Amino acid sequence: MGNRVSAAAARKKRLSEKNNEKINEKNSDIQTSSTSNLDRRSSEVSTVTYWLPNHNDELDRLSSQHFALKILYDGNISNQIASKLNMDNAVVLDVGCGPGTWLMDVATEFPGGDFHGIDVYDIFPRNIRPANVHFQSCDALEGLPFPDNTFDLVNMRMLYVALKKDEWSLMFKEIYRVLKPGGFLQSCECTTIETGNEFVQQTANACDILRKLNYKILDYEPKIISFAQTDVLTKEFLWNMVQICRNAQPMLEEQFGYTGDQYAHFLTTFEAELQKKPEAAWSFHRHSAQK
Ligand SMILES: C[S@@+](CC[C@H](N)C(=O)[O-])C[C@H]1O[C@@H](n2cnc3c(N)ncnc32)[C@H](O)[C@@H]1O
Repeated sequence: MGNRVSAAAARKKRLSEKNNEKINEKNSDIQTSSTSNLDRRSSEVSTVTYWLPNHNDELDRLSSQHFALKILYDGNISNQIASKLNMDNAVVLDVGCGPGTWLMDVATEFPGGDFHGIDVYDIFPRNIRPANVHFQSCDALEGLPFPDNTFDLVNMRMLYVALKKDEWSLMFKEIYRVLKPGGFLQSCECTTIETGNEFVQQTANACDILRKLNYKILDYEPKIISFAQTDVLTKEFLWNMVQICRNAQPMLEEQFGYTGDQYAHFLTTFEAELQKKPEAAWSFHRHSAQK
């Protein structure tokens, strides 16, 4: 983290300017509701790697994904962690919390806990939220704004398009710093549709990174959603996958080579093809580890 500190001030200034731009954009959305809100954020103008948008449709998708993952994993916290940690007075951090759905869901379940969420964009609820939830916007890669040994549990989920290959170690190391001795990390990432590229191996091999950083691995829970299945949960993940491509149209259309109506047609075809044999799959990888 230390080698990033020199760039931190300039980056923070750019982020604050970006946040102001976003607030202005939000205000102009209110005044001109017919204006497209698809291009609030893009990798060309952003200082962060993350390239998915953050308009309402995408925030809805993230909330829906939260509840689908909760069903897939039968709860918000792994059994290994839940059996060892008293959540009733736990201090919890969610890194890259997005709209804060996981955090607020868990905070509601455990009103005695103290819950903190950070995200580089202030897309979390500003006014209405459980009293034991606190949000702040900051770039996690510039260091987490908390002292050493602060948290009983750190959750990090779905930062798969937010962190570059060499940034996973940095991030896990920084989380290790803010965890109390004996504190827990829960990390859940997914593959994209392919089943074996470098990125996929990187996320699936998070165990190796965590071990090198002295974490004790408690559990590794891979789950696979095969899109050819017809159950309700699979349909939810199918909707979610297509919705990612729909929401990311401004970033993807050039790469995919479809524009306008062609893109809408591509989305319909994509949804149909995902369900054909050989099965396309979306896999999720949850790690539970301890400092
Ligand atoms: C796919 S969303 C996942 C949100 C949430 N963790 C969930 O599971 O619903 C990834 C989030 O990471 C945030 N993010 C990306 N890069 C970040 C960074 N460097 N520091 C903090 N947050 C970041 C994004 O703004 C986005 O809200």
